[in-house]
Amino acid sequence: FSVEYHETIGSTNTRARELAVDGATDVVVLADEQTGGRGRLEREWTAPSGGVWLSIVVRPAIAPSRAPLYTLAAAVATAKAAREAGVDARIKWPNDVVIPVGDEGDYRKLTGILTEMEGETDRIEWLIVGPGTNANIDAEALPEGATSIREEAGDVDRRRFVQRFLEEFDAYRSDLESVVPDWRELALTLGQRVRVDRPAGEVVGEAVDITETGALVLEADDGRVTVAAGDCEHLR
Ligand code: BTN
Repeated sequence: FSVEYHETIGSTNTRARELAVDGATDVVVLADEQTGGRGRLEREWTAPSGGVWLSIVVRPAIAPSRAPLYTLAAAVATAKAAREAGVDARIKWPNDVVIPVGDEGDYRKLTGILTEMEGETDRIEWLIVGPGTNANIDAEALPEGATSIREEAGDVDRRRFVQRFLEEFDAYRSDLESVVPDWRELALTLGQRVRVDRPAGEVVGEAVDITETGALVLEADDGRVTVAAGDCEHLR
């Protein structure tokens, strides 16, 4: 990967998109601070100085149905890098990296991932995976429900964190399916009773597994349901 570093930028995903449209691949856009960080579902993402805000441009020869595996790979790679920094990072389906609070499925969010792609129905043209991690940031500067590596374990060496992340991410992309067992091991969602809001309506049940493309398998009151995408809430 080549790295393009910015002290301050609007959004690393937006910059990555410009590079992707121009034909770039295997580029990482990295920033210390974002003034217009973007979250999922058109939400804003708070991204003050001290974070690890990054976006990766890749052009994988895969069908769009396998694209979610890239997001899972970014989540697992981030969780592993964060664990090396001394925090108990786990994954909330599909791709939030969180720190558990207590043992009933509560958590604080450490990393969110925004994935964007372009391409035909049978093949991806480009894919941008943008994980943003609250690294060396005071809790007061973060939204409610969020935490940072500083808050949980003290400051992390961000260069090392990014390097470990990229090593892990790179290993997964050459063997995409291998991310699934590692995801399972780090999952906070499995075994939880959850409510998932999806386009087809809401489902409630126990999260029992993920499939080989990263969909969540729920044991609902009226049987097994597989959910490819949606907003997931841990219930108690
Ligand atoms: C979410 O809503 O949970 C996803 C948040 C994604 C934030 C990251 S920070 C790096 C990259 N650039 C952005 O503008 N967004 C993502």
